[in-house]
Amino acid sequence: MGARADAAPADAVVRGGAAATQEVLVLDFGGQYSQLIARRVRECGVFSELLPHGTPLEQIRRRAPLGLILSGGPASVYADDAPSLRLELLELGIPVLGICYGMQVMALALGGRVELAENGEFGRCELRVREPGRLLAGLPLEQSCWMSHRDSVFEPPPGFTALASSPSSPVAAFEEVGRGLYGIQFHPEVVHTPYGTAILETFLTDVCGADRDWTAARVAEDQIERIREQVGDGRAICGLSGGVDSSVAALLVHRAIGDRLMCVFVDHGLLRRNEADQVVAAFRDHFGVPLVVARAEDRFLARLAGVTDPERKRKVIGEEFIRVFEEEAARLGDPGYLVQGTLYSDVIESGGGTGAATIKSHHNVGGLPEDLELELVEPLRALFKDEVRAVGAELGLPERMVWRQPFPGPGLAIRIVGGEVTRERLAVLRDADFVLQEEIRAAGLYRELWQSFCVLPAELRTVGVQGDERTYGHVVAIRAVTSDDAMTADWARLPHDLLERIAARMVNELPGVNRVVLDITSKPPGTIEWE
Ligand code: XMP
Repeated sequence: MGARADAAPADAVVRGGAAATQEVLVLDFGGQYSQLIARRVRECGVFSELLPHGTPLEQIRRRAPLGLILSGGPASVYADDAPSLRLELLELGIPVLGICYGMQVMALALGGRVELAENGEFGRCELRVREPGRLLAGLPLEQSCWMSHRDSVFEPPPGFTALASSPSSPVAAFEEVGRGLYGIQFHPEVVHTPYGTAILETFLTDVCGADRDWTAARVAEDQIERIREQVGDGRAICGLSGGVDSSVAALLVHRAIGDRLMCVFVDHGLLRRNEADQVVAAFRDHFGVPLVVARAEDRFLARLAGVTDPERKRKVIGEEFIRVFEEEAARLGDPGYLVQGTLYSDVIESGGGTGAATIKSHHNVGGLPEDLELELVEPLRALFKDEVRAVGAELGLPERMVWRQPFPGPGLAIRIVGGEVTRERLAVLRDADFVLQEEIRAAGLYRELWQSFCVLPAELRTVGVQGDERTYGHVVAIRAVTSDDAMTADWARLPHDLLERIAARMVNELPGVNRVVLDITSKPPGTIEWE
């Protein structure tokens, strides 16, 4: 990737605006739910970011957070390689909340007693509050919570008050109000802890004194300000894919620098019906964003002729995409800046940390030009997907684009499986997909599904009978899945009458289709796409 990777760290991205944003930092000890803690804190209206537990103290001090949260982690505090807690973190003069492992390392560091419990606790547990103290004030004395641990705190450190217990955790919550130190053994961030959000709110508001004013509107304002600072009076280019990330990134940059942003939409002919028109209608007509549409279907189809191997298809499409994008960019002169819709989850996932500019090619339509000397503008670098949608809605992006399901960069080409991509096959698949989407939207299920689409086995024909005549036609497969992150997925239990309607419409309305099948494989063992 030739773009200059000198993007600012996420803290500067978020906090570089006029007024510094209040924040509570989560230090990650490797827990499965660490990301979720940061999301929950943000849902409470306080900006939060995940940092490695070993983040230098100086970096934390510089950010001046209102409080720290120590996450859970998989290790036993007694394991040889268990991450330890630097006592200085507890002496920054700001409140600290330890969760699960975070509570245990705090207890151990301050002289409490942590031991392997006779029984671990995994899943729902009954919590008995003995002394609500400050952290659990106003909550029921008996409540359920969600646990995942083997070690337990048996005695709190000197000066701490034990607040609650569970069957295998003699001390399931503790606090030392004078020093601002708090710990809970259970996970407040998961939905199975019904009072989890209330506890986080108490920590954020009563203990840390946060204003809870972090909203999508604030994010938009801050980012616009920040983009103005970065780009100055320069010019930027942005590749639109029709997806929510690149759309929101482009809108923010347009608000910041106006017509000095040029968007490029490469129509490779592998899109769903009306998709290109919707992008033009939204960006050029509605928002007045300068937009170049490169209608390149013929070029892509010519390059795809005879290509049947899925990885080869991806490569060909990726290469051609870069070529078209580069040609358009060259026509615009040297724009200087390249806008990218990189999300916070991409930053975390690729281990980039907050300072690194990491580009995940999988998420960008076919990757990006190799040798464009452009500085990256990444206004979504600190945001989770749901926050991007909220910002999109705030900026007036049409609902259809805000809630669009993920769509692969190589588009319909990798849904014509086991064969060559041809115009005729694309037309059948596009029509089938249109019927599916229309029915799924009409049934009110579109947002509940991670993805819903059709697959066309390229070479397969099956026998049917229509109007007393024998037919020999295409098979269309329906794939609909639920998922949180595409890493795992479950096949969606679509209502039978909906499936019947879809199948009937496809066979009746689409010439050449005489059979419809449903994919009922989860991931793993299947993948979401067929190839
Ligand atoms: P799989 O099929 O691996 O898909 O379970 C996981 C997610 O990634 C999407 N996907 C792609 N996205 N280029 C993309 O931009 C690709 O080549 C590609 N292949 C799969 C898929 O739609 C799902 O959301």
